[in-house]
Amino acid sequence: MTGGADWRARVGDAWAAEWLRTDRSFAELDPALLAAALDGLGEGARVLDVGCGAGATSLAIAAARRDVAVTGVDLSAALVAAAEKRGAGRATFRVADAAVLTGEAAYDRLVSRHGVMFFDDPVSAFAALRRATAPNGRIVFSCFRARALNGWATEPAAALGVETGGADGQAGGPGPFAFALAGEVERILADAGWRDARGEVVDYDYVAGDGADAVDEAVALLRRIGPAARAIADAPRDRQGELLERLAALCAAKRSENRVAFSAAAWIWTARNPEEPA
Ligand SMILES: C[S@@+](CC[C@H](N)C(=O)[O-])C[C@H]1O[C@@H](n2cnc3c(N)ncnc32)[C@H](O)[C@@H]1O
Repeated sequence: MTGGADWRARVGDAWAAEWLRTDRSFAELDPALLAAALDGLGEGARVLDVGCGAGATSLAIAAARRDVAVTGVDLSAALVAAAEKRGAGRATFRVADAAVLTGEAAYDRLVSRHGVMFFDDPVSAFAALRRATAPNGRIVFSCFRARALNGWATEPAAALGVETGGADGQAGGPGPFAFALAGEVERILADAGWRDARGEVVDYDYVAGDGADAVDEAVALLRRIGPAARAIADAPRDRQGELLERLAALCAAKRSENRVAFSAAAWIWTARNPEEPA
């Protein structure tokens, strides 16, 4: 389980330190997400990036459409600082809890790359997000499908001999797989007043490392982000070296040419805020 308190502290700090590597891990998902995010986006639209992290999606939208105004919000002050530094005025970033957004119809489109799976009360959060969206405005977000389909999570955990964590979907609590089950996502969106929800399946390569140092790069990422990171951090000091060796052996075995990649399975969801109040 990973919740808001984790993102404000240890997990957010790790992502802020590793944003170049986490961006690389999402790079093969980005074209499909960006296409959905930009689809039918009106002239001068106001776009909100929910759980913007270090700002990759906000900045990609701002680069693709100079006429739109992009705002990114995130719980982690460290990630917002990274986004601001990197964004150099091309988008606005602020620390905020997206679950309790205020501002009626302040945005025309909401977008999120894997930033909506961490709410304690998803229906309430998605209702707040909807109220912040103009009538007929859309939400477009990506999230992971079932844990078993995501080798980036299961393979490092298996190599280290650790449990990968809770159940898929809401039963497992907030975390990367909280939106894994399509039926639950549809229900959350409907209960929050969104309409015309549609989930598109996207499989992609989670590139943990590439280039001449692909294995070292992959180890540098996975020792800080994901289930292996937690296992290593929680292990007694005298066991950490052995766990890192096992992680390095896995990454070396996964290397193909200049790339260390794992399977990743995602949804891209879109839904519409109805014109009449839901
Ligand atoms: C998996 S990361 C994705 C970050 C970024 N969208 C990206 O693609 O690199 C999830 C992000 O959601 C943010 N987050 C989680 N709960 C949030 C909330 N209630 N309000 C705002 N941001 C939140 C986290 O701080 C984190 O940056």
